[in-house]
Amino acid sequence: MDYKKLKGKVKEMISHKRYVHTLGVVESAIDLADRYGCDIEKTRIAALCHDCAKNLTREELLEKSERYGLDLDEIVFYETQLMHGPVGSAIAKFELGIDDEEIISAISHHTTGKKEMGLLEKIIYLSDFIEPGRDYTGVEELRKLSMVDLDRALIMAFDNTIRYVLSLNSVLHPNTIEARNNLIMKIGG
Ligand SMILES: [Fe+2]
Ligand SMILES: [Fe+2]
Repeated sequence: MDYKKLKGKVKEMISHKRYVHTLGVVESAIDLADRYGCDIEKTRIAALCHDCAKNLTREELLEKSERYGLDLDEIVFYETQLMHGPVGSAIAKFELGIDDEEIISAISHHTTGKKEMGLLEKIIYLSDFIEPGRDYTGVEELRKLSMVDLDRALIMAFDNTIRYVLSLNSVLHPNTIEARNNLIMKIGG
């Protein structure tokens, strides 16, 4: 499927608000890909599709996850917000015809992160936080840092996510903690 057609499909799958956010993520992801030498075409597709399952209901997410044979862990199963990553990756693969494993993995892990993230996974995870439509305390600092030091910016994004999840009294996915620990052990705190 060419990019224009894919864009039209994704637009139909999500709300207007989510689509505007998605275009912001595409823009930020391409900036990061350009800065850090990631494949621009792959980055564009992963960013475009990252939230394709975001507007599905819990029932729809569960139905798709069963249909596509996803093995959701108990934290993802408990926290509906976390389901759109893995379910979105299955939709991208089986409904949008995307067969590139790096793209599929970047979509799948964009909500939690994971240990040993690849460049595309890092770029999609971070772009989600710094796209032009995001407005929260510290976003400008994170935008600047993301163009200087990708890994330090990721640690900052993980810290923000962890603080946010704690403030909600919600469950923290172990992948997020492993991702943060993994980076800190690599580059220092
Ligand atoms: Fe998302
Ligand atoms: Fe997003």
